[in-house]
Amino acid sequence: MVICSRKMSSSSRALVLIAAVLSVASCSCSHVVAAGHPDYADALAKSILFFQGQRSGRLPPDQAVKWRSNSGLSDGSAANVDLTGGYYDGGDNVKFGFPMAFTTTMLSWGIVEYGGRMQGLVHDARAAVRWAADYLLKAATRTPGVLYVGVGDPDADHRCWERPEDMDTPRTVYSVSASNPGSDVAAETAAALAAAALVFKAADPAYSKRLVTTARNLMAFAVQHPGKYSDHIGGDVGAYYASYSGYQDELLWGSAWLHWATKNSSYLDYLNSLGANDGVDMFSWDNKLAGARVLLSRRALVDRDRRLEPFRRQAEDFICSILPGSPSSTTQYTPGGMMYKSGQANLQYVTSASFLLTTFAKYMAVSNHTFSCQSVPVTAKTLRALAKKQVYICVVTSSSSCMEPCMDKRVRLHQVDYILGKNPLGMSYMVGYGARFPQKIHHRASSVPSVGAHPARIGCQEGFRDYFNAASANPNVHIGAVVGGPDQHDAFPDDRGDYDRSEPTTYTNAALVGCLAYFAGSYKN
Ligand SMILES: *[C@@H]1O[C@H](CO)[C@@H](O)[C@H](O)[C@H]1NC(C)=O
Ligand SMILES: *[C@@H]1O[C@H](CO)[C@@H](O)[C@H](O)[C@H]1NC(C)=O
Repeated sequence: MVICSRKMSSSSRALVLIAAVLSVASCSCSHVVAAGHPDYADALAKSILFFQGQRSGRLPPDQAVKWRSNSGLSDGSAANVDLTGGYYDGGDNVKFGFPMAFTTTMLSWGIVEYGGRMQGLVHDARAAVRWAADYLLKAATRTPGVLYVGVGDPDADHRCWERPEDMDTPRTVYSVSASNPGSDVAAETAAALAAAALVFKAADPAYSKRLVTTARNLMAFAVQHPGKYSDHIGGDVGAYYASYSGYQDELLWGSAWLHWATKNSSYLDYLNSLGANDGVDMFSWDNKLAGARVLLSRRALVDRDRRLEPFRRQAEDFICSILPGSPSSTTQYTPGGMMYKSGQANLQYVTSASFLLTTFAKYMAVSNHTFSCQSVPVTAKTLRALAKKQVYICVVTSSSSCMEPCMDKRVRLHQVDYILGKNPLGMSYMVGYGARFPQKIHHRASSVPSVGAHPARIGCQEGFRDYFNAASANPNVHIGAVVGGPDQHDAFPDDRGDYDRSEPTTYTNAALVGCLAYFAGSYKN
């Protein structure tokens, strides 16, 4: 069967169909052969396992990723606090609190929406959330009035190619407080803990309560002490993960999550007063407006709360800005059908947008809601009719010359399938999934032999000389890692030095988990 929407739920697939109809008259199409569908359940298990390979701290007895060992056991000592645990963000050994919190929020959202489709894997998915939430709780509560937002000097770290188990660069501790505010990172951490609280509401009510209490305090701090963390924390952490979009988006996002977790309407009053109305066509660790709008659409559509209608309309504007063929689309697609937003780690935008499409479609289906992208209606009825059919879509290009019906020359725009190998190179961009996948990812722990295989220490420059520059494949297969992905021509060189395309990140995977759970529940092999 051929599925062709960005990674979407059945209902969002309908959206794409609409877009296909739109673009029939003026499209230039290319052909991609596709048959069958990926093994979503396998990909789901791997996407969750990935997080074990990113763990910092003391690893538990049930650690299944054996090429990793304990690391960062004295993290926090520079500030006389225990900040062990948490996740390294990507292929380096720094713990960046801002993207770690976003990762936690997205993983949690995926479980809240699609945990029922994860079956036995929901325990592993919860464990992945808890590994981060435990760390974020420490970071937020060890010193009153202080939120620790990073461990590890990123410049020093990036000058070395060392396993986390060997790292000897300064483990500088970064923090925000009333005198050095960071509303962005505080509100994102509040979002993360509030979302995690929903994950553990039934599974561990006492833990869930602690998470909510801490989230509430962080949100109050974010509101009372406005500021961008990158302006205040010093070092170069802000240069790696600066909140370019400012902090209004995190205030909206954080209060939306707090509202869901607490049902306290003061958060609704607050977020309605924010006036965060910028148009957006992407969703990432930096800019959360689109995510907040879709999240608030849940309340507008599923709970029929009229006060949230403006956010529902803004969520639809976001969707119209990425659907191919939508009159207001501002989103580019590669010839092979991949949503293309940036030359830097593009798949993070693909997985995050796909999560929002899947989830908005779910809300549409539950509420029998329809909308249109300008004159083009998007209906739930269409969605349902198309849910089980083959759907094809064409990419609108500037040189639109194709006069034939696009159904004859098709491009699959199913983003999840693209990631899993339905693309021009026939390459899966998830390590360890499928027959062909990246062999030389930009990842220190994956590319240097494990402590088990090579117990002797491997120093900073030795790592570059013997492993970063090696022509051979990485010795440790980082199963489930989704890399930055191909460029605008669907090309992928599999080059360890090419971090834009070859580095995996926690937030790319975090958004994918929920989507894979949706598809695993819809298409059984
Ligand atoms: C709701 O939240 C506000 C602001 O955080 C707080 O002052 C108020 O006490 C809360 N209300 C309840 C019922 O918890
Ligand atoms: C869904 O909406 C359509 C059109 O708006 C309407 O005809 C139909 O009765 C609705 N179905 C339900 C179950 O509400």
